Amino acid sequence: MACGNFYLLLLIVFGVVHSGHGQLSPNFYSSSCPNALSIVKQGVAKAIKNEARVGASLLRLHFHDCFVNGCDGSILLDDTSTFTGEKTAIPNNNSVRGFEVVDQIKANLEKACPGVVSCADILALIARDAVVYYGGPTWKVGLGRRDSLTANRSAANAFIPQPSFNLSNLTSSFAAVGLSFKDMVVLSGAHTVGFARCTSFRSHIYNDTNIDAAFAKSLQNKCPRSGSNNVLQPLDYQTKFQFDEKYYQNLLVKKGLLHSDQQLYNGNKADSYVKMYAMKQGEFFSDFAAGMIRMGNIKPLTGSNGEIRRSCHKTN
Ligand code: HEM
Ligand SMILES: *[C@@H]1O[C@H](CO)[C@@H](O)[C@H](O)[C@H]1NC(C)=O
Ligand SMILES: *[C@@H]1O[C@H](CO)[C@@H](O)[C@H](O)[C@H]1NC(C)=O
Ligand SMILES: *[C@@H]1O[C@H](CO)[C@@H](O)[C@H](O)[C@H]1NC(C)=O
Ligand SMILES: *[C@@H]1O[C@H](CO)[C@@H](O)[C@H](O)[C@H]1NC(C)=O
Ligand SMILES: *[C@@H]1O[C@H](CO)[C@@H](O)[C@H](O)[C@H]1NC(C)=O
Repeated sequence: MACGNFYLLLLIVFGVVHSGHGQLSPNFYSSSCPNALSIVKQGVAKAIKNEARVGASLLRLHFHDCFVNGCDGSILLDDTSTFTGEKTAIPNNNSVRGFEVVDQIKANLEKACPGVVSCADILALIARDAVVYYGGPTWKVGLGRRDSLTANRSAANAFIPQPSFNLSNLTSSFAAVGLSFKDMVVLSGAHTVGFARCTSFRSHIYNDTNIDAAFAKSLQNKCPRSGSNNVLQPLDYQTKFQFDEKYYQNLLVKKGLLHSDQQLYNGNKADSYVKMYAMKQGEFFSDFAAGMIRMGNIKPLTGSNGEIRRSCHKTN
């Protein structure tokens, strides 16, 4: 190898190490708010005991936060006179939920350690705690994200993937935030928990051919061609509150609920990952945990960028 190439390689390696998220640390709050992690965990457990679905909703909030200008709590901001927030973007409107749980946990954190724990970090922690509560894998959540001063509805429309997407669209929306094809397949495994509205899967059950006929029929009974837009069906019809590999097993028999889900097992290069995850819970769990860490590392605000919001709804 020519010397020049070697130095170029070194540069690339250091560039990767230094870009972005070396700053996040699992111990970020260990002296400034030693009980932060247990406060969040208790809040998540209490909320899911109260409503089994809400952990799924909390997991999704972190995803929808991170894909729009990084994991910066922007999804939590209400509209102001200077910007329109992300809550009413197409993928979020009448769909994202769990805000009261975030508020309750934030209130408890503010009582224990005022002005210390960011809303963006709360989202990262509740996502992990929800997955663990449902029986999924655990991971160490890097912390130290700060909160954005603004939000952008158009960016939410542009960057959050939609259920109508095909494989190439899905691949490019993950690539746009620095996530790999494999991350896309494994993070979609989050659809082992929670629900979708009729409006999100209608076109798949009436128009697509890569769906089990009896499965489509039974869904058509719940979700008519028009109306009932908000009728819910489980994303994993077998175990909707259990974090397991059944989501992938469903895809193998063409029982994915969303068009985008079934794209992952449709005679393409995602198939081999789906087969593996359907068979090997250990591989699914460890790749999912690693994928969540990478997703949580998307463009965090650190240092003196952004702020620690006192209320997750608005800037200070
Ligand atoms: C691959 C691209 C993805 C697409 C196109 C997509 C799309 C959707 C749609 C359409 C819904 C139903 C929303 C509704 O009808 O109200 C949904 C629900 C959900 N999504 Fe995704 N999603 C994707 C990836 C992810 C990822 C990466 C995660 C988390 C790591 C995730 C977590 C969830 C969860 C947990 C729910 C259920 C939420 C609840 O019950 O409140 N999704 N997703
Ligand atoms: C959000 O949903 C509400 C209630 O269905 C609707 O009135 C409103 O127009 C929607 N907003 C956007 C921006 O689509
Ligand atoms: C909001 O996001 C859109 C789409 O990514 C972008 O074109 C626009 O410049 C952003 N607006 C602001 C104020 O950053
Ligand atoms: C994906 O959908 C677009 C239209 O949205 C189409 O042009 C493209 O050919 C599709 N790609 C695949 C692999 O189906
Ligand atoms: C989907 O992908 C196709 C190419 O395969 C592209 O032409 C189209 O603009 C994409 N649509 C979205 C919404 O990204
Ligand atoms: C099925 O596809 C046709 C043609 O693209 C479209 O007009 C129709 O609205 C779709 N039906 C549903 C239920 O999505």
